[in-house]
Amino acid sequence: MQVSSSTDSTKAKPAFYQDLCEKLQDLLGTETDFVSNAANTAALLFHSLPDVNWAGFYVYRDGGLLVGPFQGKPACVRIPLGKGVCGTAARKKTTVVVPDVSKFKGHIACDPQSKSEIAIPLLNWGKLIGILDIDSASLNRFDEDDLEGLEALASVFIASMDTEDMPDLSELAQ
Ligand code: SME
Repeated sequence: MQVSSSTDSTKAKPAFYQDLCEKLQDLLGTETDFVSNAANTAALLFHSLPDVNWAGFYVYRDGGLLVGPFQGKPACVRIPLGKGVCGTAARKKTTVVVPDVSKFKGHIACDPQSKSEIAIPLLNWGKLIGILDIDSASLNRFDEDDLEGLEALASVFIASMDTEDMPDLSELAQ
């Protein structure tokens, strides 16, 4: 299988992200394994997104976040819910964009070069699975287009997962 990780980053951002979503869908194909798909997603994002120094996953485990597949410098292993950018996004179940990490109270510095960050919660029918986290060495790297594009990429990743991980839909009917 030939999967190109070269995506034209000079395109307008919405077109760039649409292209990247299609590439991710092709890359994941029919594979449903969480670790394999998270590893390939992290690699694709790290090598396709301009100006990022960390891209990867934290997985929701035992009431906190545990580092998962990623590309970039070694990262802190466990993050409690509500702590740092990732723990805040996990607790709020909403994307957190930080234009300047030095101004975010409680930011957890894994790579001292990181200056801005975006953390996207991965939700399966509202249930927290983990976080997709992207860091940049530039200030204010992530705007509204990045937020929408990265949330779309997170949805492609979630849709690839095994249906066994889906909750019992009858719970929603109650
Ligand atoms: N900065 C994050 C920690 C994870 S790393 O950036 C990879 C945070 O404050 O949660």
